[in-house]
Amino acid sequence: MTIVSIWCRHKGDNIIGAGVGLPWKIPSDTRRFRNLTEGQIMVMGGRTYGGMPQKVLLGRKVIVLDMSGKTEVFDKDNHIVVDDAKKLKDYPEDLYISGGATIYAIFFTTPGIMPDIVVDCVYAGPINEGATDLIDVNRSVEVLEQKYFALPQTYELDGVVTTVWLKKGDFVEQSLVKKIMQYLETEGK
Ligand SMILES: NC(=O)c1ccc[n+]([C@@H]2O[C@H](COP(=O)([O-])OP(=O)(O)OC[C@H]3O[C@@H](n4cnc5c(N)ncnc54)[C@H](OP(=O)(O)O)[C@@H]3O)[C@@H](O)[C@H]2O)c1
Repeated sequence: MTIVSIWCRHKGDNIIGAGVGLPWKIPSDTRRFRNLTEGQIMVMGGRTYGGMPQKVLLGRKVIVLDMSGKTEVFDKDNHIVVDDAKKLKDYPEDLYISGGATIYAIFFTTPGIMPDIVVDCVYAGPINEGATDLIDVNRSVEVLEQKYFALPQTYELDGVVTTVWLKKGDFVEQSLVKKIMQYLETEGK
């Protein structure tokens, strides 16, 4: 199993959300997220799951992390609820950690389920005016900067710079890294 984490954070303050939504609208970033997770198992928290448009998740494999088990899934064939992230240790398939802040922090700080690959998209543009209840990924970025190294290539599209990071000292599945880099090299072209 390879664990891939993917996010879009705001440059400087590492904000990723406002309430249950995003504080920006960047169609190419939404498309990148959709394409990189296509056909993969996404793992997300109950708040993120509830805040995403249903049409984005319908027909896609999703594991919803929810300790209380109160999340009702709307696609019973493809979505399941798991009450403890640690249960995903040694999962037989690749997992794509898709937020939000609580779920990233759990994966970045729990031995055995730390992401192997991080697709780090950093947005340098403005945040929506009047956005409140801002949520950041500072804790996860601290771990990223200490325990991961950035590959030298960066990719820029619509004000978002994407860098791929790999976990230091661990074997990382190179074919998957290559596939992600190939997508980033050709996206938008
Ligand atoms: N920019 C991006 O890339 C991006 C991506 C995804 C999400 N977001 C944003 O992130 C924000 C949501 O983040 P959030 O931190 O509020 O919520 P979240 O991470 O989506 O969800 C938190 C969930 O985690 C569950 N949980 C807590 N500890 C757990 C554990 N040990 N095992 C299993 N489940 C556990 C909680 O369950 P209980 O309720 O039972 O405690 C809760 O349902 C939104 O603003 C969203 O738009 C941004």
